[in-house]
Parts: sequence; C-alpha cells; structure tokens
Amino acid sequence: MPNAQIIDGKAIAESVRDEITKRAAKLLDESGKRPGLAVVLVGEDPASQVYVRNKDRAAEACGFNSVKHTLSADTSEADVLALVDQLNNDPEIHGILVQLPLPDHIDESKVLRLIRPEKDVDGFHPVNVGLLTAGERDSALVPCTPAGSLVLLKRTLGDTLSGKNAVVVGRSNIVGKPMASLLLQESCTVTIAHSRTRDLPDVVRAADIVVAAVGRPEMIKGDWIAPGATVIDVGINRIPAPERGEGKSRLVGDVAFEEAVTHAGAITPVPGGVGPMTIAMLIVNTLTAARRLLNLPEEEALF
Ligand code: GUN
Repeated sequence: MPNAQIIDGKAIAESVRDEITKRAAKLLDESGKRPGLAVVLVGEDPASQVYVRNKDRAAEACGFNSVKHTLSADTSEADVLALVDQLNNDPEIHGILVQLPLPDHIDESKVLRLIRPEKDVDGFHPVNVGLLTAGERDSALVPCTPAGSLVLLKRTLGDTLSGKNAVVVGRSNIVGKPMASLLLQESCTVTIAHSRTRDLPDVVRAADIVVAAVGRPEMIKGDWIAPGATVIDVGINRIPAPERGEGKSRLVGDVAFEEAVTHAGAITPVPGGVGPMTIAMLIVNTLTAARRLLNLPEEEALF
C-alpha cells in the first residue's frame, strides 16, 4: 500500500484566511465597518494564553478589529457576566469568544448562554447547537474545529461526501457531536464511537472517513484504518520525548500516525493538520456574524 496523501492544514488554513482578508476588505468598502472580535481570557493558563494570542493575531492580520480582555483568575462570575453583557451590546463587536476552561468558581454554561447567539463565534450557545442539529447549518454559527475538519475533508475528497461511512471517535460537545451533525448533513452514514464502544477497532475499520477526537495519544492504531480511508486527527496531546533529550516533549494526535500513514488514503498530521484550521474558522465565523448583524447578504459558504 503506498503512503497516504498528507493533508496540509497549514496551507489550507492560509488559503481560507486569504479569502477572508479579501472579504473583510470588501465589507469595509460596503459598510465602512471592520469585523469586530472580542476574545475573553480569565486566568493565566499558559496554553489558553497561547491560543488567545494566536486568535487575536490572526484576526488582526485579516484586517479585523480584535479586542482582547484579560481578566485575573479571581474575577467574580458577576464581573465576567457583566463583560459579556457589555460586549453583547457593543455595535463594533460582532463575535465574542470566551476561552475555555474557565476557573472553577465560574459557571461555564451560564457564561456561554449569556452570549448573544448572533455573536457566538464558537457555536456553543444552545440556539446554535439546536440549529446545527436541526439541519439548519447555514443559519447557525458552527463550532470551529468541526467546521475546519469538514473543510479539510472537502478539499481532499471533493464536495460530495454523500453515502460515505463516517466514524467519529469522541462525543464531546465541542467536537464529536457537532462533527457528527455536519457529516449527517453531508449525507454520510455516521457512527459516533467513544470510550465505551464495543469492538472499536472493527467499528473504525468500516469507515471511509475517520474523525479522531478522543484526546488519548495514539490510541487509534494503523491496522484499524481501512485501506484508502481518509483520517482527520483532531487530537493534540503532549507526550514525553526522552529521545529528544531530558525533559523534552512532543505533540502527537489521537491516531498512531506512522502506522496509519501506510493504510490511509489521506491523513492529517499533528501538528499542522486540524490545529491551524480552528483559528481560520473562527475568522470565517466572525465575518459571517458581522455580515448578518449588519444586514448584508451572506457570501458563498466556504464549507
Ligand atoms: N478551549 C479549547 N478549545 C476551545 C475552543 O474551541 N473555544 C474556546 N472558547 N475555548 C476553547
């Protein structure tokens, strides 16, 4: 079996950001407005700090107006809710993202439910979850990681995924469930597998499309992948890498890449696969939210 095509998430994310940069310039021409993104970070979690900085930079680079709100870890729930309320009512802000996880004393779902659904560029509000599951994807804001995974699938397989067997491994609200909804809307036959699934290797072997989002390093083995299948690896796991020197680590996905690459038809690497797409789709969602809030016609969907 020849080696798989490596799906270049970095290059595809760049092409998406280029398109959005053009669309943001067009919006500025049409309305005199820049898409406005507000990113809220509560606390000093180092990984979250990196994500928030990258989101802020990507938005600026596309010509957006990006505002970062950094609050200390002991900020009260009431103060976070007050900030969301203020952003909900700010006409210059079209997208609001509250970085998760929040400190334990803050009720995450209370905060997420307060965000106006029209500004919910993470797609986590129950209204957006409901629209997506009801098959009204094009009226919703869709969570960024599954949306980015779908872009990668369509750029690899073409626009028609109809009839394919898709297995999503993982049932999280952020990735697994919305991914399954998106694939169902593409007329795939969708299975959601998870840690309690019986005979998981055989379930995965039946898949033309595998989306791995379990958060367990290299759990999905190469011989679980059907010959020629397309593999989207959402996992980002840091594991010790003593071969690189004492105390060193490296990033791996949820799929054992070196094995899987000899079975799959196409596969995303980690890093450089799904990761860059997540931020690109946040930018897409923010532009979509801006056009809707400004009552401008929507542009052609990118996925
Ligand atoms: N933390 C990890 N992933 C995400 C995400 O997609 N959105 C937000 N808001 N926080 C996260």
